[in-house]
Amino acid sequence: MPAAGFSAPARTGGVQFEGKITPIVIVSCIMAATGGLMFGYDVGISGGVTSMDDFLKKFFPTVYKRTKAKGGGNDSNYCQYDNQGLQLFTSSLYLAGLTATFFASYTTRKLGRKLTMLMASIFFLIGVVLNAAAQEIVMLIIGRILLGCGVGFANQAVPLFLSEIAPTRIRGGLNILFQLNVTIGILFANLVNYGTSRIHPWGWRVSLGLAGVPALLLLMGSLIVDDTPNSLIERGHLEKGKEVLKKIRGTQNVEAEFEEIVMASEAARQVHHPFRNLLQRRNRPQLVIAVWLQVFQQFTGINAIMFYAPVLFKTLGFGSDASLYSAVITGAVNVVSTLVSIYSVDKVGRRVLLLEAGVQMFISQVIISVLLGVKVKDQSNNLGHGMAILVVVFVCLFVSSFAWSWGPLGWLIPSETFPLETRSAGQSVTVCVNLLFTFVIAQSFLSMLCHLKYAIFAFFSAWVIIMSFFVLFLLPETKGVPIEEMAERVWMQHWFWRRFIDDGHHHHKVVELPQAAA
Ligand code: BGC
Repeated sequence: MPAAGFSAPARTGGVQFEGKITPIVIVSCIMAATGGLMFGYDVGISGGVTSMDDFLKKFFPTVYKRTKAKGGGNDSNYCQYDNQGLQLFTSSLYLAGLTATFFASYTTRKLGRKLTMLMASIFFLIGVVLNAAAQEIVMLIIGRILLGCGVGFANQAVPLFLSEIAPTRIRGGLNILFQLNVTIGILFANLVNYGTSRIHPWGWRVSLGLAGVPALLLLMGSLIVDDTPNSLIERGHLEKGKEVLKKIRGTQNVEAEFEEIVMASEAARQVHHPFRNLLQRRNRPQLVIAVWLQVFQQFTGINAIMFYAPVLFKTLGFGSDASLYSAVITGAVNVVSTLVSIYSVDKVGRRVLLLEAGVQMFISQVIISVLLGVKVKDQSNNLGHGMAILVVVFVCLFVSSFAWSWGPLGWLIPSETFPLETRSAGQSVTVCVNLLFTFVIAQSFLSMLCHLKYAIFAFFSAWVIIMSFFVLFLLPETKGVPIEEMAERVWMQHWFWRRFIDDGHHHHKVVELPQAAA
């Protein structure tokens, strides 16, 4: 299995081909990005639902009783929602999602991006029906598992679809479009929860059922879009591939780009073991960075807020209403701050955003921790009005800094650093690690809240320090660097990573050596 030559076509990717931003590109991208909407809706919906009495009464009566018990005092307050089953309701989706990415990596390659998105939407739709109609916990969890399969399939196929269909110069912005849709999905879910919490006793069914809206959009989208030229060509449909390329580029003059895709897919076909390829030494910097970015993104503690904000606010003594609309506020801050990122990421660069956010996240988490600590000390069960507002303000400051840094960049940086030959495998590893740690947070946050109490935010702030040092020393700036020049302009120049590139640099002249180690 000679690896010789496959880096050659990959490096021509920086040539600017004629590529208008045609209406069909816009429509395709909007449709595809609804995958992000779906993901976000699922992230945002569970917290509000688990804080609804009707839902708890039906599925988690023990938790319900605990939340209603009087005189539990502060300590047990933090433990009201500590229940493995309840956490499983949230987390099962991510567990299923990370398992599904492996299958999705196969289907995106063999069946195409379009069909994989279609499969995702069907998983979503069946999951939504089971959830909205749930009579027992089992039905609820099976529904969540199917939604998870949808997330695994969509998060694998959609970003690839977007980056393959977009003209090179808007690729970065389009990638963030996916994240923007995630945040809009979360906000939409928070708003829905706010409305349905007034409908008794089945408001939660509406919340879970409305996930059908983004799912239907994705279904329609995946029916009307064409598969990407890259995928068509890779699967041997050369003529169709060229036709689609002409259509999306809005010009007959696509010969050069077509040739390149043909060569690149030839090369991709040579890679029989994409995952093994990913483990080669010269691909180490991108792999290590992609993996750690996902771990760090989740250990900012963001999903403690996204999943459990209503539960958290209730734990702090907010009323039901106040909890749900506080979640709406944080959701809105999340969307707006993501726009800041779209605007500034190619101007100030990735590192500046990540480092600034490190400081802002650290300070807000420490202050939240102190505010909650003070509350526990004075033994009152509820935060005072002023304190409650302060907590919400600092939660918003935390969320906003996440939203212009780790949120979008956790996804953007891996997608722009993996070379073509490892991009698809790299994407599945990225998604998989992300979902794994999302699962870890979802499954453990309520228990951690119970044991660590206010110190939980100090715990996350310690992680923020670690990740900021990682960025400072180990994350090179990739702003404005074409993908095929990454090796020379980024990795070769880096004090640490250059050692991995040096020995592997002439790999295209060498026939692949038997790889001894991972
Ligand atoms: C993360 C999600 C998170 C969301 C919040 C995404 O980048 O991957 O886990 O819930 O941002 O906006």
